[in-house]
Order: sequence, then structure tokens, then C-alpha cells
Amino acid sequence: MIQLTDVSKSYGSEKTVHALSHIDLTIAPGERVAVMGPSGSGKSTLLNLVCGLDEPTSGSVKVEGVELSGLTDDARTRLRREKIGMIFQTFNLLPTLTAGENVALPLRLQGEHKHEAERRAVAMLERVGLKDRAVHRPDELSGGERQRVAIARAVIFRPPLLLGDEPTGNLDSVTGEEILRLLDDLHSEYNNTLLLVTHNVQAAGHCDRIVSLHDGQIVRDERIEQGLAEIR
Ligand SMILES: Nc1ncnc2c1ncn2[C@@H]1O[C@H](COP(=O)(O)OP(=O)(O)O)[C@@H](O)[C@H]1O
Ligand SMILES: [Mg+2]
Repeated sequence: MIQLTDVSKSYGSEKTVHALSHIDLTIAPGERVAVMGPSGSGKSTLLNLVCGLDEPTSGSVKVEGVELSGLTDDARTRLRREKIGMIFQTFNLLPTLTAGENVALPLRLQGEHKHEAERRAVAMLERVGLKDRAVHRPDELSGGERQRVAIARAVIFRPPLLLGDEPTGNLDSVTGEEILRLLDDLHSEYNNTLLLVTHNVQAAGHCDRIVSLHDGQIVRDERIEQGLAEIR
């Protein structure tokens, strides 16, 4: 599903920052991987490379067997829209749109008719536990509700790959756990691959594998056995 081969990413020319150095990482379809590590260790850089928002300085990034650097901008945008869902710590909803309009947006961009897009958006909002919230704007919703809207938007095309950058980082632990349970439910339903950046052990406990980064390098890669999952 995801294959990184000898990937490095540096920023700047005068004072070069090596955000990632020689990363090799293979993630199988349906696998749930937590990427952990201290602030500045390269977690967000890794996600940005996998979703094609950024390009590596060297090395190869493949998603579903497709080499991202070989794609045109249009093809990369399409891949990101249809195959990859993204959720963020700050939710990234459009503040002037209602919850329903936020979720319908990717469908509208794809050329779906307004009524059908709205119907599907409302059904997806219901799926994530937000029946009757479609007409509310983000500032009328709690943090947990906003993240549900963002998740509904991210999975509207049932993407095989879901990426999260600290999706519970702005939520209290109870609300965060509810969001992680929702991601568990969606994973059972869609069998999507999940790449979850977090420095939260609770979130990692919902994954099958933990990849630890330090100073842009993978320092540990371990499978989680039942034990850790039972802590939650
Ligand atoms: N656009 C950028 N320009 C310059 N340096 C950057 C940029 N993005 C990230 N970095 C640097 O790369 C390193 C890794 O950053 P990042 O991937 O955001 O880490 P994390 O998400 O683990 O906190 C940090 O030292 C950061 O300062
Ligand atoms: Mg980050």
C-alpha cells in the first residue's frame, strides 16, 4: 500500500535541516500504523510525502504501487482526493460552510450534483454519529464533533488510505478515545490502511504497529500484541 525506499527530505540550502534521512518503510494494505516520536522528529514531513503534498529530496515514495514523483499535478490531486483521506489536529474545516457542505465538498469538486452530494454527505454524517448536525457551522460544534465532520469528509470516497496528523491532539482524552473508536469502526468496515501520527500512547494502542522516529530516522518498528490493546 505504501512503500518508501531510501527517502530523505531536507529543507533550506544555507542551514540545511535533515527532516528525514534514508527512510525505508513498507506498510501493507489494511495495516494500522502509529508514527511516534518527539516534536521535530519528522512525523508530519513523512505524512506530507505519503500524501504527495511534498516531494522527497531523494528516494522513492509509492502509494498503491504508483510512484508519486512520476505523476502530473492533476493526477496527484486526483489520487489525493479519491484514494487518500486526511484528518488533522486542527480539523481544517471550512468555517463558512455547514457540516453538510464541508462533507459534500469533495463530491462537488468531483462534479457530483448538489442534491446527490448533500444526500451522501448527510448519510455519512449520520454514519459518524452526527445525525441532525448537517446544517451547523463548525463554530457551532464541539471539538469532537468537528473532528467527526472532518472524518466524514475524509472518508466520503471510502479511500483505501487514511492519514491522520495528531487527530486527537486538540481533544480531551475521553473525546479522543471516542474518535479513536470511530476510526476503529471505520477500519472494520472499510479495511482501510491507517497511518496515524501521534505522540499519544492511547492513540498508538489502536494500531497494529508502532514506527518510532528520532531526528528523521526510524529508531524502532514494532508490532503491537494484544497486551497493549488491552490497556485501553
Ligand atoms: N517547511 C519547512 N522548512 C524548513 N524546515 C522545516 C519545514 N518543515 C519542517 N521542517 C523541519 O523539519 C524537521 C521535522 O519537522 P516535522 O516533520 O514537522 O516534525 P514533527 O511533525 O515530528 O514535529 C523539524 O526540524 C522542522 O523544523
Ligand atoms: Mg508534526
